[in-house]
Amino acid sequence: MTESAWDAGIETGVESMDTEHRLQVSLVNALDELIGRGTDAGLIAKTIAQLVDFTNVHFLSEELMMRLYAYPQHDAHKMEHGRLAKQVEAIRHRVEASEQEAALATIADLKAWLVDHIKSMDEAFARWCTTNGIRAR
Ligand SMILES: [Fe+2]
Ligand SMILES: [Fe+2]
Repeated sequence: MTESAWDAGIETGVESMDTEHRLQVSLVNALDELIGRGTDAGLIAKTIAQLVDFTNVHFLSEELMMRLYAYPQHDAHKMEHGRLAKQVEAIRHRVEASEQEAALATIADLKAWLVDHIKSMDEAFARWCTTNGIRAR
């Protein structure tokens, strides 16, 4: 899957979310490319650490926003974040175990799942904000 194909059309209209999604997507793409190229292990480990940390920060930032606005779907959304975070951890474990092919397959799954999450749950939250007159940024 090319970069433009999998991350096209994922704008939610909430600026902070979109900015964070762009960074999240570029970290996933960078990791995919580095592992595919079989480049140096140090750089791969550093990129995975960044992806894990940034994914946690991004999810927390959305969850704080949802709590701030008393979003009714907060719990379900947070649960899905937990599943996605586990998937990112699984990539880390596979790379640490030198299972590069399995890591690449898990990255492909993560891409699909992440896009699906943004297009469904994140967009639903953005739409709910608009419907309720909340100008989330
Ligand atoms: Fe998100
Ligand atoms: Fe989300």
